Amino acid sequence: TQLNKESLYQLSEVANEYYQNQLWNTEEGANIGISYFRERSIRDDIIKQFQLGYSPKDWAAFTDFAFNKGYKKEILEQSGLAIFKESSDQGFDRFRERVIFPIHSFSGRVLGFGGRVLQNNVKTAKYINSPESEIYHKSQILYGLFQAKSFIIKEDNCFLVEGYMDVISLYQNGIKNVVASSGTSLTVEQIRLIKRLTNNITVLYDGDQAGIKASFRSIDMILNQEMNVKVLRFPEGEDPDSFAGKHTADEIKIFFKENSKDFIQFKTDVLLKETKGDPIKKASLIRDIVGSIALIKNLIQKEIYIKECSRILDISEQVLFSELAQLTQQNV
Ligand code: GTP
Ligand code: MN
Ligand code: MN
Ligand code: MN
Ligand code: MN
Repeated sequence: TQLNKESLYQLSEVANEYYQNQLWNTEEGANIGISYFRERSIRDDIIKQFQLGYSPKDWAAFTDFAFNKGYKKEILEQSGLAIFKESSDQGFDRFRERVIFPIHSFSGRVLGFGGRVLQNNVKTAKYINSPESEIYHKSQILYGLFQAKSFIIKEDNCFLVEGYMDVISLYQNGIKNVVASSGTSLTVEQIRLIKRLTNNITVLYDGDQAGIKASFRSIDMILNQEMNVKVLRFPEGEDPDSFAGKHTADEIKIFFKENSKDFIQFKTDVLLKETKGDPIKKASLIRDIVGSIALIKNLIQKEIYIKECSRILDISEQVLFSELAQLTQQNV
């Protein structure tokens, strides 16, 4: 209900204030939370702009705080901020001893949170997120969109990354038109959120096999929404955040400019490496790439990409067009 939603918004705002207050105004927050952000080289102005926070070690610090403010078990449970075992009335905090990343709506309301553990290699999940609720639908949210939206319009491009820290690091280094799908694989709703602002997406996934695989999937989804897609590949083992940590803001800008490739070039680079001259593999690579081109609805663009494909792969345009025609027929 509308009333229930309003309560959830209000509670999220209270929690957001609470986690920031814990970070800035408590000893534990300073010793653990602020130190963590310092280690990762995040500036204070960026911590404030993204409203980052800290959730204390205590089992029920926030839960008790919210109870004292008059919030009831039902709404705390729905928000996911407190967890109640069985029918117990004593709840405990979902986020404990983590740094907190509030997740905002397009218009800047707090919808939910992500929380990161302070040490890697601990047994619990590195990141946890708010559960789905009446106000938090993870498939319809992009992390950073609220902060990035005006820059996406200005640059007429949106950089799409994997994680919270990737958004924050790039933003801090002057690349502010950046959002993350944060843990979920990219959805159509998320692409449509970007499409309200620009027709151009540059995908910037981690430099590992999972990242490459995710890029392939995202490329086709973006083409399907009649948008343009480029890809920027990172060195093996790097992600946008680790890369940003090793370079100056100017170097990052230049690297991005010089290494953004259109999706055809990216796919052929990746796939050609795997074919090693094997003609059967090359044929399947061609079908794969033509499959992506088949998703493009604009005929002029289609033709441009076929021509590029023909040049890179040294296959006649005629053959590519007939392959395309076959695929297009199968699609209807
Ligand atoms: P850092 O180690 O802080 O730099 O994180 P990262 O963003 O580089 O992590 P990674 O590349 O492994 O994951 C990308 C994104 O996936 C994260 O930002 C999270 O949104 C999400 N993610 C990663 N690990 C987990 C996890 O254990 N659980 C959940 N739910 N999400 C995760
Ligand atoms: Mn809804
Ligand atoms: Mn990864
Ligand atoms: Mn990463
Ligand atoms: Mn990272």
